[in-house]
Amino acid sequence: MKKLLIIVIALLAISSVRADEGMWLLSKLRQQNIGKMQEMGLKLTAEEIYDINKSSVKDAIVGLGRLGAPFRHFCSAEIVSSKGLLVTNHHCAFGSIQSHSSVEHDYLKDGFWAYKLEDELTNPGITASILDRMEDVSERVNALLNDEMSGKERRTVIDSISKVIVKEAEKDTKLSGQVQSMFEGNQYYLFLYTIYKDVRLVGAPPQSMGKFGGDTDNWMWPRHTADFALYRIYAAPDGTPAEYAKENVPLKPKHHLPVSTEGVKEGDFAMIMGFPGSTDRYLTSYGLENTMDATNDIRYKVRTVKLDVMRAAMAKDQKTRIQYASKYAGCSNYWKYSFEQNKALKQLNTKGNKEIVEKQFADWVNADAKRKAEYGDVLSTLKAEYAKMKAYEMTRTYLFEALGGPEAHTFASRAGDLITKLCDKETSSEDKAKLKKQLQEMGEKFYKDFNTDVDAQLFAQLFEVFNENVAVELHPEIIELINTKYKGDYEAFASELKAKSVFMSESAFTAFVEKPSAKKLEKDLAYIAGKSFFDMMKTVSAPTKEIGEKLAKEKRLFVRGLMEMNPAKAWGADANSTLRLTYGKVGSYEPRDAVFYDYYTTLSGVIAKEGADGGEFEMDDKLKELHAKKDFAPYGVDDIHVNFITDNDITGGNSGSAVINAKGHLIGTAFDGNSEAMSGDIDFEENLQRCINLDARYMLWIIDKHAGAKNLINEMTIIK
Ligand code: ARG
Repeated sequence: MKKLLIIVIALLAISSVRADEGMWLLSKLRQQNIGKMQEMGLKLTAEEIYDINKSSVKDAIVGLGRLGAPFRHFCSAEIVSSKGLLVTNHHCAFGSIQSHSSVEHDYLKDGFWAYKLEDELTNPGITASILDRMEDVSERVNALLNDEMSGKERRTVIDSISKVIVKEAEKDTKLSGQVQSMFEGNQYYLFLYTIYKDVRLVGAPPQSMGKFGGDTDNWMWPRHTADFALYRIYAAPDGTPAEYAKENVPLKPKHHLPVSTEGVKEGDFAMIMGFPGSTDRYLTSYGLENTMDATNDIRYKVRTVKLDVMRAAMAKDQKTRIQYASKYAGCSNYWKYSFEQNKALKQLNTKGNKEIVEKQFADWVNADAKRKAEYGDVLSTLKAEYAKMKAYEMTRTYLFEALGGPEAHTFASRAGDLITKLCDKETSSEDKAKLKKQLQEMGEKFYKDFNTDVDAQLFAQLFEVFNENVAVELHPEIIELINTKYKGDYEAFASELKAKSVFMSESAFTAFVEKPSAKKLEKDLAYIAGKSFFDMMKTVSAPTKEIGEKLAKEKRLFVRGLMEMNPAKAWGADANSTLRLTYGKVGSYEPRDAVFYDYYTTLSGVIAKEGADGGEFEMDDKLKELHAKKDFAPYGVDDIHVNFITDNDITGGNSGSAVINAKGHLIGTAFDGNSEAMSGDIDFEENLQRCINLDARYMLWIIDKHAGAKNLINEMTIIK
């Protein structure tokens, strides 16, 4: 009986350890978090996770970026072998898989596996960063700043001191550094990475598994998706970063994560390391309103139209389906997010939660004359400036969605600059040859995934949405041209565009580059569309600069005040594409009244969801066979665990992140969040927020049994 009582008390204790908000900075773990993490079950020390002298878990954590913007990590990944093998999500590698696909080799549909190194596929432009170390440089930066400076002065000072700090740190190394602001500009951190530039595709399951459930299941639990793909990092023969070259060799990492087949159970400790992109946890109730009305609502409305056009065209033709697959997925992900976030923000009364914090802040400020002088205007200024900002933000969202809707106009604008130079008499013939070559290459890349009819339809429909929703005085020239010359007939405009613009097909473009004419360019409808939309974007953005600067200042003061108000609290910095750790545990939840969601799903659950061929729940034949044969060992006994949920604090960018158990072994890969707590990027919902992970055993089972890629299984360190 006594024993039972102790167990009951212990269970109560476990369930009262609630999810901890926070995407923590590794250099502060020892000071801020490690005690709590060990209390929750972690067996590692802070140094085993992050050490700048010896190898540690952080050496296996990778941020995926692009050559032009290597610090803006679009996804996360982790190293799982001594030969630089990387695990990330299928949806993170989707663009790579798509770019290698054609009607003849449809890797999206069929999957892709390299059974030997030579078969791995290069992905120029993709980068893989591994953090060397990070440092708090707040004192050095803040010493040069004060509250009286204008936003512009501040930026100039921050930029120049950051350059100095980065240059010092990079000196005599192969590292790339970046200074990042934290807590709305109250703190600054230096991050130093080794950035690898030869990242090859190793394997991906068929889309029917890797993207199982499609848009219907996206952002949802229960989930049954094999959302993984494998890359490999290559380095120069001496181990240093190098762009793709035949003689490059697989990276020998400082650390790789062993992959566990032990599995997880309710309450188990789990930590996730990766590169969360952006959160807005210190947003005020006033800012919240703008996010809902000026971003989410509009984005959802416009993208619904865009997705309808693409979906119809993709259903009709295999080539179009492949060409637009990645564009479609990129558009639909935040289309659904916007909708679900507004729903959750209303449902959970996030505005009310924000108002409570603001009231506490105001009371604290008003209780002291010095504080009043420092922070007295913060909330009223934020309120006023957000109100001023709203109309501009709405127009900007429409402009942004119209600019990113069809494609020929923005391509015309990029190519147009070069064509203008090409037509300039002052340009030397040598430079002209270079420009021509550059334009041809741009064209090849752009038109590979371009369909004239689809783009014309997007012009017709999205420009019309723009016309209907934005005030006349904010119409770009092209919209007024359509309203007058084409009498508001957007279809007629689109047919004319298709017939006449040199940017609407590869053949017309190539011919134009051979015989360019500045006069013809100026009259080209796609070119006018691009130019006039970009011009209007500038016009609309100009007045927002001043508002933006005021907002930035007051947000900085607001966060500074909050931290002063509660100095004992471990404050978590908003996500900003830098490496973070979040700890928590495996856990079921109750999404709404009378509903209980268990913490894992199974292969039998996948099979039970089978839908029509070609649809979002299409079923792979081989998967069905393996399930029927119960060929599960050693990854499962009666079934295979597919996905599981934890209460870790993650966001977009964390996709592909390592989910690690108490011993430092990989138990899964994070790939999504749950719709009920989609407000989480703005206000962490400790009882409701869940992180959706792929179970490592499903991944291993697919690689082993479905793909038969023993070569990959053999190079991993698998913990039985
Ligand atoms: N919602 C996921 C994320 O943002 C992406 C999931 C991709 N899957 C899909 N069915 N679209 O990380």
